[in-house]
Amino acid sequence: MAVHVVGDRPSLLTQVLAELRNEKLQKDRHRFRWNLQRAGFLLAYEISRQLPYLDAEVRTPLGQATVKVLAEPPILVSILRAGNAFLAGAMEAFDFADVGFVAAYRTEHTNREVEVQVDYLAVPSLAGRIVILLDPMLATGSSVILSYEALLFRGQPRQLFIMALIASEYGLKAVQKRLPEAEIYVGAVDKELTARGYIVPGLGDAGDLAYGALHG
Ligand code: URA
Repeated sequence: MAVHVVGDRPSLLTQVLAELRNEKLQKDRHRFRWNLQRAGFLLAYEISRQLPYLDAEVRTPLGQATVKVLAEPPILVSILRAGNAFLAGAMEAFDFADVGFVAAYRTEHTNREVEVQVDYLAVPSLAGRIVILLDPMLATGSSVILSYEALLFRGQPRQLFIMALIASEYGLKAVQKRLPEAEIYVGAVDKELTARGYIVPGLGDAGDLAYGALHG
């Protein structure tokens, strides 16, 4: 399936991404979270253009209008921790969506095969549904791949979207290989990935910037 690099064309998303990457502006945690939320809204809007719609009729004060409405609510699944501010924006866009949560922790930083453990899942039934999996920083791709595989105990989705703010080339390839059915929407693709699994230039640790450092 396709990879959509939404930031390849200048838009409000590229403006928001510029602010998120800026180390001076990152010092304002509230602004960082707000921008993550805005990016979540804008990327969710891009995905909305690819969803199924139905014709419907609504009465306006002046007559009858034929309108297009979403055929079904998607399920948004946020990968904790940084996924949550991103999720807040996606929930603004899809305010009727069902929402699930998955926690994926990195347990080793020895090489690119960073070990990721999935240990918390709270998701509705996914069988036959449209699922949008949210991970702002798609670094090695392991969090997305392992989270999705763990989610499948709740049924096989009909369609899978992956929504990321920044992906590394390496992570993107890994996800395309393991989840070829996924339609991937990403703000930007960066070339490098460090041995500790950080995207370069990236923006740093999105979870720490949004919520505070866990270590040290
Ligand atoms: N997670 C982050 O927050 N940043 C990275 O660069 C990689 C993973």
